[in-house]
Amino acid sequence: MTTVLITGCSTGFGRETAAHFLERGWSVVATMRDPSASTLPASDRLRVLPLDVTDADSIAAATAAAGAIDVLVNNAGVGWLNAVEGTPMATMRRVFETNLFATVAMMQAVLPGMRARRSGAIVNIGSSTTLKPMPLLSIYRASKAAVNALTESAALELAEFGIRARVVLPGAAPTTRFGDTARAEIAANGGFPDAYAGFVRQTMEGMQHHAASGAVTTAQDVAQAVFRAATDPDCPMVLPAGADAIAWSQGR
Ligand SMILES: NC(=O)c1ccc[n+]([C@@H]2O[C@H](COP(=O)([O-])OP(=O)(O)OC[C@H]3O[C@@H](n4cnc5c(N)ncnc54)[C@H](OP(=O)(O)O)[C@@H]3O)[C@@H](O)[C@H]2O)c1
Repeated sequence: MTTVLITGCSTGFGRETAAHFLERGWSVVATMRDPSASTLPASDRLRVLPLDVTDADSIAAATAAAGAIDVLVNNAGVGWLNAVEGTPMATMRRVFETNLFATVAMMQAVLPGMRARRSGAIVNIGSSTTLKPMPLLSIYRASKAAVNALTESAALELAEFGIRARVVLPGAAPTTRFGDTARAEIAANGGFPDAYAGFVRQTMEGMQHHAASGAVTTAQDVAQAVFRAATDPDCPMVLPAGADAIAWSQGR
């Protein structure tokens, strides 16, 4: 039986991806900061382990408890929407800590085992926002663009050990709690700079129009894309997930 370890399974894409692998007979290590928050269906192929991806001790404990891992899905991530000038450096470091540095730390934790077994796959969750420039997402896009670059180069380093690496780019998913969490963070960090008020209003209207246009991403879209990235050797290096992400990747 093949085993997948997924980060950030308390909700959203991570939860859906864990359920998707379970339904297909995989052994699933669903990790989350607070395992009591799990809403995954009980299964003898499911283990729920505590993991804060920004904490080195937590990573060491979770990966030791998980044992051999065939596929790692780096899904845990945080959003941030603000101008460069409206982003405190501490916030930027937190975004990069979760979205980028934790992804590297998780890869470093599982790669020795995969190398020894000469097989494995890493699937990192990026963002379709990296497909074209978008205002107020400078810091978030920078963190996710780095995930793309990281994954593409790592794939070249790892191929000779029989390990694949892929990056999945979800589009905008209004049904997960991602947007609400980011909005609460913005409010807690002083909101938008006054000088940008008109621009922010205009940009938000554009985003709401996009969300209402119908072309959005569902958690199921992402789970299917992750499964393909994990199992299909012919899967493209960079895989958009969701109708809007696919349209953007085709320049539409
Ligand atoms: N939703 C979108 O529109 C969208 C679009 C493109 C890409 N993405 C990316 O897709 C991924 C998942 O997004 P989502 O929409 O499912 O978001 P979500 O509903 O907000 O879920 C985020 C998950 O990440 C976890 N997490 C955050 N910080 C963590 C940490 N330090 N350690 C462990 N887990 C942590 C959260 O756990 P807690 O419950 O403990 O907070 C939660 O399980 C993220 O990488 C995000 O950047 C999302």
